[in-house]
Amino acid sequence: MLKVNPVKKVQGVITVPGDKSISHRGVMLGSISKGKSIITGFLLGEDCLSTIKCFRQLGVEVNQQGNRIEVIGRGTNGLMEPNDVLDAGNSGTTMRLMSGILAGQDFMSVVTGDGSLRKRPMARVSVPLREMGATIDGRENGKLAPLVIRGGNLKGIDYKLPVSSAQVKSAVLLAGIYADGVTKVTEKVQTRDHTERMLKSFGGNINCEDGYITVKRSELEGQEVEVPGDISSAAFFMVAAAAREGSHLVIKNVGLNPTRTGIIDVLMNMGADITLDNIRSSGGEEIGDIVIKGKKLQGTNITKEIIPRLIDEIPVIAVAASMAEGTTRITGAEELKFKESNRITATVDELKKLGVNIKELPDGMEIVGPNKIGGGTVESYDDHRIAMAMAICGLFAEEPVAINDSHCIAISFPEFEDKLKAITE
Ligand code: S3P
Repeated sequence: MLKVNPVKKVQGVITVPGDKSISHRGVMLGSISKGKSIITGFLLGEDCLSTIKCFRQLGVEVNQQGNRIEVIGRGTNGLMEPNDVLDAGNSGTTMRLMSGILAGQDFMSVVTGDGSLRKRPMARVSVPLREMGATIDGRENGKLAPLVIRGGNLKGIDYKLPVSSAQVKSAVLLAGIYADGVTKVTEKVQTRDHTERMLKSFGGNINCEDGYITVKRSELEGQEVEVPGDISSAAFFMVAAAAREGSHLVIKNVGLNPTRTGIIDVLMNMGADITLDNIRSSGGEEIGDIVIKGKKLQGTNITKEIIPRLIDEIPVIAVAASMAEGTTRITGAEELKFKESNRITATVDELKKLGVNIKELPDGMEIVGPNKIGGGTVESYDDHRIAMAMAICGLFAEEPVAINDSHCIAISFPEFEDKLKAITE
């Protein structure tokens, strides 16, 4: 159980751990490349460790020294049939992206996950991967894990993403590097593009156009990947600083890929004082420092076009909205129901317990503020982002807030508690 005490302001200069999406992709692309890949700043969260474990089971040598990871690639066709079930743990990214790679392999693998992941929708990957030629079975005919995948002999498809999901897009693109012909993926709203950028830097045959991506059979070469700080982890502290007058926080070396920076746009729309500094680029990804000064925030309207750029940040945006003056309406966010928990219900129910004027909408939520936030005990639903959002809410409360089952924070941010202490002392 994590107990958070109220504070008057937050301050300091911190870093956050490596980007989860980029860390997963570094191990996956490194595994199917020729030669060695070195990944620095790797996120040692449980999700990314699940990816390492799975690729070791597929025959890949992965050496770890702190957050420096060395992957001895086996080339596109060098993975080996695993002799046991591959366990993606809590990680949707591991299961869905790895399924794309497994669809290209001429062997059988079984992929499972924890109780939460086994409830999450998998038809979104099994349908297009079957269309490409993979044989995929699973509970409820491939709608739920465990999934059984026998791959090989793929052909390119022209796929229009029915849901805005980078995981689904990535699964199809990764299968595309094993397929005959061209694989084309079209998306209505752009989702995070780390797979595209990293495939390009590993020498993949990929082209990104406005609204669609094409990929062809590719041979990849191992690379060095510098993982920037995860903006989705930085988001918790950005809100902690932005919504409290007198705060002054610098978060250094954060990934600023424009497909991920919706949180900055939204906080600035709410009147936050945020500046970006030392912007540079590495491995095809923008990196910089985020400087936040606390101010009184205003409510805002968040609609479906921006949702993919801040999908993981909505629980903590709801916390910012609780402190802001006026109404914040979040719509077009139904995908939140299919995350590690139903994040719409979880956010609404738990913030309500702390006295926030918040109501659930069919595809989002509405918050009226500012609120006097009370103390108490809230649930995490075993969802790391719910646990951390509630912890940030605790900073703004009048009494301590306790978060039950907070161990799940280690999924994406094992050092969260230490960093929180560092900026509140
Ligand atoms: C991710 C994509 C998003 C995000 C998840 C990581 C990725 O999921 O919520 O935390 O690394 O591709 P969806 O693509 O399912 O929206």
